[in-house]
Amino acid sequence: MGAKRRFKVWRGDETGGDLKDYEVEVNEGEVVLDVIHRLQATEAPDLACRWNCKAGKCGSCSMEINGTPRLGCMTRMSTFTEDETVTVTPLRTFPVIRDLVTDVSFNYDKARQTPAFAPPPELAPGEYRMKQVDVERSQEFRKCIECFLCQNTCHVVRDHEENKQAFAGPRYFIRAAELDMHPLDAREDRKEYAQATMGMGYCNITKCCTEVCPEHIKITDNAIIPMKERVVDRRYDPLVWLGRKIFRR
Ligand code: SF4
Ligand code: F3S
Ligand code: FES
Repeated sequence: MGAKRRFKVWRGDETGGDLKDYEVEVNEGEVVLDVIHRLQATEAPDLACRWNCKAGKCGSCSMEINGTPRLGCMTRMSTFTEDETVTVTPLRTFPVIRDLVTDVSFNYDKARQTPAFAPPPELAPGEYRMKQVDVERSQEFRKCIECFLCQNTCHVVRDHEENKQAFAGPRYFIRAAELDMHPLDAREDRKEYAQATMGMGYCNITKCCTEVCPEHIKITDNAIIPMKERVVDRRYDPLVWLGRKIFRR
């Protein structure tokens, strides 16, 4: 039998809510999601929480734990001292449905708006060939589990509902970068599109998205900054622009 620990969990829905106090048993090796499950099995059977894999791979159990966006299934209770109250709240950037479950459809809308991979029209499926070095470059971005912790953290949309229309967010900047670096993507204007239509110009490279990414994707350094640099190159240096045109594969 483990020791009792203090928790505060946000309970409510779109009409409002507040933090409720709980004292829950915690055993060695457990994560925050285990505690949520124990609460559901004991005193709060109607506590709503989204989860699926409990292995840090499905991206469902995103929540804010003591104010930091994290995966509930990857946050060990040993992270906190025994006398610390652990406060669990829903993601702040997205509308609450109930308790810890938020409506993340903002992200799906942005995914739909991101132009898809466009292979060269002269190649049929099965004829695509890529060098290993190109595969490796985009592999980092393909690790994304769509937890949306980066989207939730970015100050451009956190507490700024009015920016959501014009800002796709870091998860979709890595998608744009992945396609931009893809040797078989026939769209030439990924950077300009990211800047002009996806709102990359709003990003002032604070790197908060990178800090919370559970897959340790270097969102800012490896995706956003190279995309921004090359937009600047192209816009302001005609020789670089011409060179790229001439020597492009
Ligand atoms: Fe989550 Fe990282 Fe993907 Fe953002 S980039 S959605 S933080 S895995
Ligand atoms: Fe936002 Fe990440 Fe840029 S947190 S401001 S997208 S570096
Ligand atoms: Fe799948 Fe946490 S339950 S990432």
